[in-house]
Amino acid sequence: MKYKAAPGVFDILPKDPKEKWRCTHIWQYVESVFREVAKSYGFQEIRTPAFERTELFARGVGETTDIVSKEMYTFEDRGGRMMSLRPEGTAPVMRAYIEHQLQNQAPVHKLFYIEPMFRYERQQAGRYRQHHQVGFEAIGNSSPEQDAEVIDLCYTIYQKLGLKDLQVMISTLGDTESRLAFKNALVDYLKTYEEDLSEDSKVRLKVNPLRILDSKDPKDQEILRGAPSIHDFLTEESQIHFKTVCVILDSLGIRYEVNKQIVRGLDYYNQTVFEVTASQLGAQNSIGGGGRYDGLIKELGGPDVPATGFATGIERIIQTMLGQGVKIPDAYRPVIFLIPLGSEAKATCIHLLKELRTEGVPSEMDYSGRKLGKVMHYANQIRAQYVAVIGEEEIKNKKIQLKEMETGDISEVSFEELSHLLYFEQQASEYMNAIERLQHPFETIQQAEFFMKKLIHSIEYTKQTTGKLQEAIEKMKEIL
Ligand code: HAM
Repeated sequence: MKYKAAPGVFDILPKDPKEKWRCTHIWQYVESVFREVAKSYGFQEIRTPAFERTELFARGVGETTDIVSKEMYTFEDRGGRMMSLRPEGTAPVMRAYIEHQLQNQAPVHKLFYIEPMFRYERQQAGRYRQHHQVGFEAIGNSSPEQDAEVIDLCYTIYQKLGLKDLQVMISTLGDTESRLAFKNALVDYLKTYEEDLSEDSKVRLKVNPLRILDSKDPKDQEILRGAPSIHDFLTEESQIHFKTVCVILDSLGIRYEVNKQIVRGLDYYNQTVFEVTASQLGAQNSIGGGGRYDGLIKELGGPDVPATGFATGIERIIQTMLGQGVKIPDAYRPVIFLIPLGSEAKATCIHLLKELRTEGVPSEMDYSGRKLGKVMHYANQIRAQYVAVIGEEEIKNKKIQLKEMETGDISEVSFEELSHLLYFEQQASEYMNAIERLQHPFETIQQAEFFMKKLIHSIEYTKQTTGKLQEAIEKMKEIL
């Protein structure tokens, strides 16, 4: 084959790709859960361009981070500007926040995005050059409660998706004062091993020593084992902030581990940081991560507004779900497949199809005119729920024989009734779910009373509106 997708990127296909995690319906399902959870936590969607000025990431994420120094897709545009495909979502969202002066609209903004990110990383299972993230950014609150909310939100997403056995690890990087004291102690320590450090770390020791903590070099890691910890340099305020986050997580029943070794690969963090891992994922086991980044907006030229957030990789979520055998809703299937016999039947089917689709019933028909056996086989392949063959007899009687594929049951339905009937059929399971959801919460009298009050209110409202409408009709009758 002449053209293939570039290394490290992949297609997401509707059906049967070689790897199940690339099936469209699974992506649509997990994205629907992100949106549902985002709504319940009050986050609204933001969409930013796929590329930004390179400087935004150099300034925001950090020039000496691997992401910026080694992994960005950078190019000069035709106007001579240096641009980069976004390697992460936080800096672009902050750029948009500053550009549109969102601080003037409201003191707090809670934003989320579902977008592809681009990092030129070494190819490996679970690591892609275009990967997808859902990210959440809560801007405007410096309180530990906001950090806890963000961690809880991340946890809730995984829970709703049915993920199990995840490790939530949290730590703190302290405030500026804590980090400065820590930085000095770290530099003092590392200087004694300067000769043995990797070339990258030697440079970082001069320009950004904290980044050495992120080194993957085995020798650097060995040296780092004896290094001081930020936790020994926390100011009282930072200690209280971190403690409060932990207390809230405890009260919410979120199990976590305080892991002092957490190093985020981006420079903008302060105070709370966290990471969630799934053992299923192997070497690339980080499924999501984030933390507080109070100085970023100011660093990018905006007001001094605090923020906190996280992002989670969609590929890794889906792979973990499949690895854990989590139940995922079925792919799209047509409710009905119409098979016309002859040209008059074709015209009839086109009309029936239109009616069905207008009612929102997923429906298809055969345009090929191939032998009935082959068309039936195709209907089976696309997992149509019902099939109806339409010939002269059906057109004459304006009735069809509706065959349910799974059971083989046949029922006679008039043309007129068809779309309505299948509409209700399709809705039935949703009604059942809704009824179940309604019945479930009534565990106490108070709950039932609360529901009844709402119901009576809405009945009253309907009665009033109907009354007013009737009055209006009476008046019109009088005038006429
Ligand atoms: P990050 O840890 O660099 O954080 O990425 C977040 C998640 O994206 C990772 O936990 C991982 O699941 C996924 N991911 C990253 N790189 C790849 C890759 N090459 N292939 C597949 N998945 C990948 C950030 O990007 C921050 N912006 C998160 C954040 C938001 N912090 C505060 N707000």
